[in-house]
Amino acid sequence: MELIIRPDREAAAQLVARIVAGELRINPRLVLGMATGSTMEAVYRILVRLHLKEDLDFSQCRTFNLDEYVGLAASHGNSYHQFMYEHLFRHVNIDLRNTHLPSGLAPDLDAECQRYEAMIQDAGGIDLQLLGIGTAGHIGFNEPLSALRSRTRVKALAPTTIKQNAPLFDDPSKMPRRAITMGVGTILEARRCLLLATGAAKADIIAQAVEGPITSMVTASALQLHPRCTVIVDEQAAGKLKEKEYYRWIFENEPEWEAYQ
Ligand code: F6R
Repeated sequence: MELIIRPDREAAAQLVARIVAGELRINPRLVLGMATGSTMEAVYRILVRLHLKEDLDFSQCRTFNLDEYVGLAASHGNSYHQFMYEHLFRHVNIDLRNTHLPSGLAPDLDAECQRYEAMIQDAGGIDLQLLGIGTAGHIGFNEPLSALRSRTRVKALAPTTIKQNAPLFDDPSKMPRRAITMGVGTILEARRCLLLATGAAKADIIAQAVEGPITSMVTASALQLHPRCTVIVDEQAAGKLKEKEYYRWIFENEPEWEAYQ
């Protein structure tokens, strides 16, 4: 795992967007794993700008989102289908047929989860997976105690997650209590993972995920097992890390990051 500290939210999102853009330029048929949530909004805003100003081409790119609420139609204002459409897909030249999210309305949810896993396999697996982190330590909706080898399935959302996301609903009591999510095992199979966390509210959980033990209580800690995972944070989200100076030294001295200084 690598940890990169950027001065503020915007700079952290910039770095994530530049890495995505770099990978997409090398491989236009990139299979991108997408995350939603407020942290990702800045990344998608920058990617849209790169598309408009620097011709970043999404025409051959394929996407798979991490998760979707059970019970919400794709057209629902709070669905992750809508989130992706509003923040990214409608602004870039992506072919919507190449964008995938699980269906929260599938009559057989278990079959839907298996279908989703099979589609990821058929696409050749995920090249680059974007991740946020919840205050409960989740990646995707892999709530505390999720098996670290889990696959795409339906999960009950933790009270912390409901507290985090319910205010986004017109009627917070209508927030679904379950979601379909890629499993931790599914996420760990992506060839590269990029986790973005910003703001002081994420400082505790970032310290646990990066410097704490690998535990199903903090599913983001499973990323310590991933051979190519970069965690990008702003100064605020880095607030509780013990080894900040070491992470800064690595970023300044690793040749891979020279172009991003
Ligand atoms: C969303 C997702 C979640 C979020 C996380 C952080 O697709 O998978 O894990 O990334 O809850 O959400 P924000 O950015 O809203 O704090």
